[in-house]
Amino acid sequence: MKKIRAAVIGCGIISGMHLDSIAALHEAELVAVCDIREERALEAAKMYHAKSYTDYHEMFENEVLDAVHICLPHYLHTVVAEDAFRAGIHVICEKPMSINYEDAVAAVDLAEQCNVKYAVIFQCRYNTPSILVKERILDGRLGKVKCGRTTLTWYRPNDYYGDSDWKGTWDKEGGGVIINQAIHSIDLANWFIDSTPIEVQSSLHNRNHPNMVVEDTAEGLVKYENGAILSFFAMNNYLRNEPIEIRLLCENGSAILSYDEAVITYNDGTVETVKNQPQKIVSYTGGADYWGTQHAVQIHQFYKALVGIEKLEISGKEALKTQRLICDIYKDCKLKEL
Ligand SMILES: NC(=O)c1ccc[n+]([C@@H]2O[C@H](COP(=O)([O-])OP(=O)(O)OC[C@H]3O[C@@H](n4cnc5c(N)ncnc54)[C@H](O)[C@@H]3O)[C@@H](O)[C@H]2O)c1
Repeated sequence: MKKIRAAVIGCGIISGMHLDSIAALHEAELVAVCDIREERALEAAKMYHAKSYTDYHEMFENEVLDAVHICLPHYLHTVVAEDAFRAGIHVICEKPMSINYEDAVAAVDLAEQCNVKYAVIFQCRYNTPSILVKERILDGRLGKVKCGRTTLTWYRPNDYYGDSDWKGTWDKEGGGVIINQAIHSIDLANWFIDSTPIEVQSSLHNRNHPNMVVEDTAEGLVKYENGAILSFFAMNNYLRNEPIEIRLLCENGSAILSYDEAVITYNDGTVETVKNQPQKIVSYTGGADYWGTQHAVQIHQFYKALVGIEKLEISGKEALKTQRLICDIYKDCKLKEL
């Protein structure tokens, strides 16, 4: 079988997850890596036996590529994805799709026009507890979600923002704890509820990070077309990264997901519990546990879609639902204007 020729753009913190995943797949071969910081590109190229570039345009011109992984600061996601689409290259992009909704919609449209696949990373959907809860909602044992809440209490020191030239900024990160960290738990809740938000209220604050301007604390409420209500709370001011928690009250029972476990209690008193069983496709150990461990599973799904044996699951079009909600959360808040 002809291997899919892949490249990774952005060789920072998350890139190892993508590079190791590509290396583990028999459908793919890593051809090139790119980072404007040459030392990062060179290091990744050496480690994974690929060519190194500092300019992705040059890489697109010189290499025959089928797919690129975008692991860049948020404001570059749709810009680079669109250049790839125009070059006929499939894209798998890290979350979020974009720092605004309109650019994400335009990117989805362009991918369609160029007849290429566009995937967006939401790896937490592939955790065993997430899969079980979604199944139980769909098969009717839990039934529809009536009410949900998500809680994220994590730790990001001032240096996390101080050491980065894009994190903690409106123009390059597009926000703080919501668009970068809580996006995963909000995506899960939004996926479980599976209806259109009709009203979004939010309150965002920067309580303890004087060296950056975006929110480190957020709470709010989302009302959905089907009557469901979601409340969310997120903050980066805790002393450590606690497991995220999602609680759902459904037609026929309730579910509590806390990072590696789901406990479902049905209205008849029976209980179903599942622990996360991460599929150890890659040996990468640089990833933090609280990211979830299913990047490799989602990346493999993307490649299975590229070779035509599966339908792409988290496409750009699918990811737009959460992108829209995230953008509405920012729209309702005044912090940006302060
Ligand atoms: N899914 C997850 O759980 C998860 C976890 C961490 C990060 N992420 C996401 O991954 C993305 C990258 O985050 P990170 O923490 O690795 O950031 P990072 O700052 O560590 O890495 C970004 C890299 O991009 C490079 N870069 C910047 N502009 C470039 C350009 N024009 N061309 C080529 N390279 C360029 C930088 O030099 C840097 O090495 C973000 O979207 C982030 O939200 C996702």
